[in-house]
Amino acid sequence: MALSFERDIRPLFRESDRRSMEWRFDLWSHADVQTNASTILGRLREGTMPCDRSWPEADVDKLSHWIEEGMLP
Ligand code: HEM
Repeated sequence: MALSFERDIRPLFRESDRRSMEWRFDLWSHADVQTNASTILGRLREGTMPCDRSWPEADVDKLSHWIEEGMLP
C-alpha cells in the first residue's frame, strides 16, 4: 500500500515539533510538508533536526519513500 501523509507521516511529527517549527511551516499540514519536503528531509537526514534528537533511519526512509511515491495525502 502506498504511504499516506495522514496515516504514515504526520504521526512522526510530535506536537512539540509542530510548535517549535510554526514560525516556518506547519508539520501537521500536508501542503506545508509537501512544499518544504526536500528541506525537511535534508535536515532529518543530516541529523540537525529535530533540535533534541535525531530520527531513526527507518523513519527517515519512510519519509523519503513517501516523497518518491508522490507525497499522497
Ligand atoms: C521533526 C521535527 C522537525 C523538523 C522536520 C524540523 C525542520 C527544520 C527545517 C527544515 C529547518 C530549516 C528551515 C529553513 O531553512 O528555513 C529548521 C530550522 C530550525 N528548527 Fe526545526 N525542525 C523540527 C523540530 C524542531 C525542534 C523540536 C526544535 C526545537 C526548538 C526546532 C528548532 C529550529 C530552529 C531554532 C531552527 C532555525 C535554526 C536552524 O536553521 O537550525 N526544530 N527546522
